[in-house]
Amino acid sequence: MTTLDGAIPAEVREKNAGLIADIDDLVSIHGTERSALLPILEGLKSRRDQITDIAIQVVADRLGLTPVDVEGVVTFYHFLGTEPTGDTVIHVCRTISCALLGMDAVVKRLENVTGVSMGETTPDGKVTIDWANCIGMCDFAPAALVNREAVKEVTPDRIAEIVTEARA
Ligand code: FES
Repeated sequence: MTTLDGAIPAEVREKNAGLIADIDDLVSIHGTERSALLPILEGLKSRRDQITDIAIQVVADRLGLTPVDVEGVVTFYHFLGTEPTGDTVIHVCRTISCALLGMDAVVKRLENVTGVSMGETTPDGKVTIDWANCIGMCDFAPAALVNREAVKEVTPDRIAEIVTEARA
C-alpha cells in the first residue's frame, strides 16, 4: 500500500491523527478495492460527521485513487456531504417528478419551520436541510430522505411534523 503520510506535514498529520486512524480502521474492515470506497466514506461520515479535504486525500491514498475520484463520489451522494451536519438531515428531492408534484410547497414550509435555507443547519445544530437528486421514489413524489430513510408523498404538514420530532 502506498502512503502519502510522508507528504502530509507532521503538524497536520498530528492534528488529524484520529481521523487517519479512523480511515485506516475502515480500510482494514472494508479493504482497498474501489468497491470499498462508498462503505468507507459512509463509515467515515457516521464517525466524523464531516468529510474534510484531508480525509479525501487520505482515503484516495489508501485506495490508490485520486482525490478527484473520491471527491466525485462524495459530491454525487448528497448524504455524504463535506460539511458538518445537524443531528437530523433532511434531503428533499428536486428532480422532475418531485418538482412537478409539490416539492416547492414542501421546501417553502421546511425553510419556514426551520428558519434556515436549503443547504444550511439550524443554529441549535439539530436539523440540516438540503437538496437531493432523484432518490428512486418517483412513484411516490414528492419524496425526501430523513437521515437517509425515504419518506414518500411528503406534504408540507408532514415535513413540519418531522422537524418538530427532530427538535424534541
Ligand atoms: S424525481 Fe424525486 S424521487 Fe425521483
